Amino acid sequence: MTDTDLDAMARDILTANDRGGYTIPTAGLYPFQWNWDSAFAAWGFSTFDADRAWTELETLFSAQWPGGMVPHIIFHKPDDGYFPGPDVWASGTMPATSGISQPPVAAILARLIHDRVGGTVRLRALYPKLLAWHRWWRESRMAHGIACIAHPWESGRDNCPDWDPGMANVDTTGIGPYQRRDTGHVDAAMRPGKEDYDRYLAMVKFGRDCGWDQAKIRDDGPFLMGDPAITFILIRANRDLAAIAEDLGEDGAEPAAWADEMEAALPWLWSDELQAYAARDVRTGTFASAISSGAALGLLAGVENAQMEEKLAAMWDRVRYGIPSNDPAAPSFEPRRYWRGPTWPVVNALIAVGLTSAGRHADEARLRRETAELIRTGGFFEYFDPMDGTACGGDKFTWTAAIWLAWANREDA
Ligand code: DGY
Repeated sequence: MTDTDLDAMARDILTANDRGGYTIPTAGLYPFQWNWDSAFAAWGFSTFDADRAWTELETLFSAQWPGGMVPHIIFHKPDDGYFPGPDVWASGTMPATSGISQPPVAAILARLIHDRVGGTVRLRALYPKLLAWHRWWRESRMAHGIACIAHPWESGRDNCPDWDPGMANVDTTGIGPYQRRDTGHVDAAMRPGKEDYDRYLAMVKFGRDCGWDQAKIRDDGPFLMGDPAITFILIRANRDLAAIAEDLGEDGAEPAAWADEMEAALPWLWSDELQAYAARDVRTGTFASAISSGAALGLLAGVENAQMEEKLAAMWDRVRYGIPSNDPAAPSFEPRRYWRGPTWPVVNALIAVGLTSAGRHADEARLRRETAELIRTGGFFEYFDPMDGTACGGDKFTWTAAIWLAWANREDA
């Protein structure tokens, strides 16, 4: 199969996963609109349908909560194949949504889309919504100046060992019986375990019981961890938002200041033991015990740190393909279990965006080549074993197709 054939297949996947204004990540496993998946889908669409790219982002922001939060799942239409569905979340919103957010990559991708295909009128309409979402992160998910997550699903890196310290303290009393659906779609060995799911549901229960009072979730919820990945993503996203503001003739001083303040707060995330930025439990101060893709996203934010660079380079050299979600040298490394080791084309693409901005073209080209190789041999799967390239998780995956089109198969990305 040639790269041109793969281009056509990738476009077909985006089109087949289009449910009318929004794209599902993959049929079966993820049958609704997911937040960061959609932002990547928009980037993919921008390579062949500019109008559809902007529509994807507009549909995502049509579900924005009055407080600015953009939810991680939007349940536009019913589907029994996913758990926990809208009745479990009980958001009380129209459309029904989950009650937590997901990595705020939309501003980063909106800027790249605008650079590629234009669309200033549509970007102008989106700008205040992006700003309101970033403000929500500041007001509702901040501790010690760092972006935090109140649920591992909010990080998008669900069962990453980054969250093990906070997960250990989550009380699962009273969650009741439930039936998972994910393991009916893909191999259970590639998914989070039951102990993880019990805790995930305890956190959803807390949110639902307090009527999704976001300040209460931050202050009293069962879980709150500083997330290096979201912190780095927000630093970059706020700088991109400031650049967008300038393009639009608006004043971007506010998001620019937010980025600077967050960068100044980074020492709170510095682990002396790891010699790297690491996830940290806000309640106990405990650091995660391994370097992960969370630290690697420092490259997206352009955060310079010689010690960490050395650690990241060593981690990358321990695998054959892409940046792993967890360090192969760590006892917690599992090369095929979701975020405990596999490499994810979307994360590689975000890191590449940072490498390009920093002028690190050789590293960017290596990451692009390794990611493209995974897709050429394994297909458009959700994620991959970084040691031998085995394709894992869901097939015909929207974001992998999008990453192929927008970055992995492009010299000019
Ligand atoms: C899931 O259900 O596995 C999702 O990652 C939650 O967003």
